[in-house]
Amino acid sequence: MITLYRKYRPMTFNELIGQEHIKKYFEKSIEKNEISHAYIFSGPRGTGKTSTARILSKVLNCKNPNGHNPCNTCENCIAINNGNFMDVIELDAASNRGIDEIRKIRDAANFRPVSGKYKVYIIDEFHMLTKEAFNALLKTLEEPPEHVIFILATTNLEKVPETIISRAQVLQFKNITENDITNHIINIAKTENRNITEEAAKIIARKAKGGARDALSLLEQLLKFSDNDITQNDVIKILGLFDENLLKDFINSIYNGNNENLLKISNEIFNEGKEIEVFLEEVLEYIFNNIEKSENLSRDIHIAKKLSDLLKEIKYSENKKILFDINILLFAFEYNNVQNPLQHTNLNKITQYKEATTSTTESLTSKVLNILLNKKEKMDLGLYFALKNAKITEKDDYIKIFFKKENLLEYQIVKSKSTILELFYSNLTKHLVKIDIEYEDNNDDEMRKNNIIKLF
Ligand SMILES: Nc1ncnc2c1ncn2[C@@H]1O[C@H](COP(=O)(O)OP(=O)(O)OP(=O)(O)O)[C@@H](O)[C@H]1O
Ligand SMILES: [Mg+2]
Ligand SMILES: [Zn+2]
Repeated sequence: MITLYRKYRPMTFNELIGQEHIKKYFEKSIEKNEISHAYIFSGPRGTGKTSTARILSKVLNCKNPNGHNPCNTCENCIAINNGNFMDVIELDAASNRGIDEIRKIRDAANFRPVSGKYKVYIIDEFHMLTKEAFNALLKTLEEPPEHVIFILATTNLEKVPETIISRAQVLQFKNITENDITNHIINIAKTENRNITEEAAKIIARKAKGGARDALSLLEQLLKFSDNDITQNDVIKILGLFDENLLKDFINSIYNGNNENLLKISNEIFNEGKEIEVFLEEVLEYIFNNIEKSENLSRDIHIAKKLSDLLKEIKYSENKKILFDINILLFAFEYNNVQNPLQHTNLNKITQYKEATTSTTESLTSKVLNILLNKKEKMDLGLYFALKNAKITEKDDYIKIFFKKENLLEYQIVKSKSTILELFYSNLTKHLVKIDIEYEDNNDDEMRKNNIIKLF
């Protein structure tokens, strides 16, 4: 099976989706026979630059053009579609960067076309040409032979020297709208005798971020994955995405300070082996997509900014989970801290922090952890997470906190806060509690004997 995006390369301007301004431009200029000798097609990947270059080379050489569209049935159109038409030459500057290729073009350009009306040179990613090659190209552009047309495609117009830009007609390709891509996907699925729900197609369109090629690649994965109709759930599953309800739940848990739920969501993501970066991207998209319906715009924008900073930071972090957990709990804290200027106006509605529960079966340490997590004034998350990585034994008024070799950092954090910690414990029991903090040495066995509470 040939890849979908090759199979469905637009063959006429009518088949090209989006890019209305480009289509209109060529409709007019072909009608008036005002053809430029050099075009620059600039714009994002997979939006139709190469396709348009081929359509244009066909219509200029077509034996029976259909208005401004090529017929696709004459021998010239067929040869161009098959990539073996002598007068249409495609060159990929990403792999042929040198001056030799351009010199060849320059020399060949002086000969008349063999079987068509125009010699068309399509140079892809031409910003990657070497300086010498650019200069040679520039010479050719200065005095182009009557029958020669250059189509220079690039995803990086800013890398192209002004001297070249000023000699060419620059056409800016745009990202294709989600709506256009959605319809395109539904149509192509239909042509393939398959069904895809509109919601599912919409998600693909969103993920493709304006590129038709990416959209078709995603669709192809989905068609391979299932034999049945493709639903929103299939897309979420196979692309490793997240349910909208989960995204909503996550954001609300930050706003409401529901720490327990935040940690539960975090654990779910990691336990399922999903990527936290994808999750954060999805949350950001969710906020953005619902920004018009926002009940509190400044709050939503602030959290989006915080989450996008976190996304950047997490990309380069080794311990993504800890960084993620610390930050989301911190955000939750900030939105629920009375002193915070970002405080939601609906003060009364905000769920207040639960005080540590007093169930008798609960260990002293879990109460302390609860307090650390839920403290109103100044939540000490560093201490919380450090303790989570310890083995802690409780015996009357004596607490032993033990760290394994790999938890040196955690050990140091707890060690530096031992006085505060002792205070927490003592406050809870109402008498003096002694804390002993140890770093791994040989007493691991002894610890085990002493009825260890393993917290993680
Ligand atoms: N505007 C479009 N309409 C319909 N299909 C498109 C469009 N743009 C891209 N495609 C699909 O993506 C494939 C690749 O498109 P094309 O080669 O024209 O993109 P490009 O802009 O040249 O990308 P690149 O910058 O990566 O070279 C096409 O074969 C087609 O399936
Ligand atoms: Mg291309
Ligand atoms: Zn034709």
